[in-house]
Amino acid sequence: MKVLVLNGPNLGRLGSREPSVYGSTTYADLVAMCEAAGTDLGVEVEVRQTDHEGEMVGWLHEAADESWPVVLNAGAWTHYSVAVRDAAAQLRAELIELHISNVHKRESFRHTSCLSDISTAVICGLGVAGYPLAIRWVAENAGD
Ligand code: DQA
Repeated sequence: MKVLVLNGPNLGRLGSREPSVYGSTTYADLVAMCEAAGTDLGVEVEVRQTDHEGEMVGWLHEAADESWPVVLNAGAWTHYSVAVRDAAAQLRAELIELHISNVHKRESFRHTSCLSDISTAVICGLGVAGYPLAIRWVAENAGD
């Protein structure tokens, strides 16, 4: 099984971006953490990040065509992108919506998600530790 971990805008700046909100783990550390989780679980994990909405839409189409489960931190697109939602709605395997921060404790515009109602589950507020948890759940449950 392959699990695709997709990250949207500004997440490539983890480590230097608002560390009081997102922590000090760098994006490179996050990629290594996700890949290590995959190795532990015996699943292939591929982690990608983009600041370009069309690229994200293309990756979601690829995951839909390949029937890959997706862990998606869509960043700000979560809150307003109907295009990302429409692409994610085409997925045929599990979709986990993930946020590093607890978006519900933050500004009201972050309380709206275009993804939650089409997702299998939502993880938010656990910091980067949410990623390996999401990967573990997908590895143990995808395809059931
Ligand atoms: C985020 C929360 C979003 O509101 C924000 O725009 C992000 C990151 C998170 O991981 O906590 O870019 O998805």
